[in-house]
Amino acid sequence: MKTVSLTIDGKKITATEGEKLLWAVLDNGIYIPNLCALRENSEPSAACRLCFVEVEGKEQPVTACTEEVTEGMVVNTRGTKALRLTRSAFELLMASQVVDCAHCASNDSCELQRIAHHLGVKLKSKRFRKLVRELPIDDSSPVFIYDPNKCVLCGRCVWVCRERLGIGVLGFAHRGFERVVTTFAGEPLGKFKCQECGECVNVCPTGALVFKDGKEPEIGAKIRGGSGEV
Ligand code: FES
Repeated sequence: MKTVSLTIDGKKITATEGEKLLWAVLDNGIYIPNLCALRENSEPSAACRLCFVEVEGKEQPVTACTEEVTEGMVVNTRGTKALRLTRSAFELLMASQVVDCAHCASNDSCELQRIAHHLGVKLKSKRFRKLVRELPIDDSSPVFIYDPNKCVLCGRCVWVCRERLGIGVLGFAHRGFERVVTTFAGEPLGKFKCQECGECVNVCPTGALVFKDGKEPEIGAKIRGGSGEV
């Protein structure tokens, strides 16, 4: 495969032609906020709108998860326009999130905390009116707990369950503010023939899906071939 050279924040790097910019940047130790992208998904939904960067020659910032690297590309991950868009998207997202880190199993490993720190914004932003739902927590699975109140609708769990595992227990229902990740007819997860592999938990960037005993079942590692790749 052909290699291309590009510059990220003044640093020269190489990447594989056709690779998405997000992975090339992350692989070179430079962080870009991201919630919805998965490396194995070649058709990213770009749903979270958090990975904006500026590319020389382009008038508007682009989402790094959908942009392919090209020879000679010059990228600024900290440009004013890109950061303004990312901050707005993040604060809007947090306006509909319950923030209770002290009582969350994902405290200190939550991607939302990392993004807030990176952007220099608070998790409890006052910029937008707070609008949160009080949805029931589903603990019917023997392996994991699903708290839809902590879900950011990134769609990673839906994609992994359907595309990687070919099961499709999880999906989206409703639109707008009512949108939610759920099962068919909103039945409890424990009622479905889920493999209980925990792959949905492994790709969840927040505390929406967490293992009951804090660790994944053996079948999860077997499914991934022990690679640990999510
Ligand atoms: S990671 Fe690019 S839009 Fe979500």
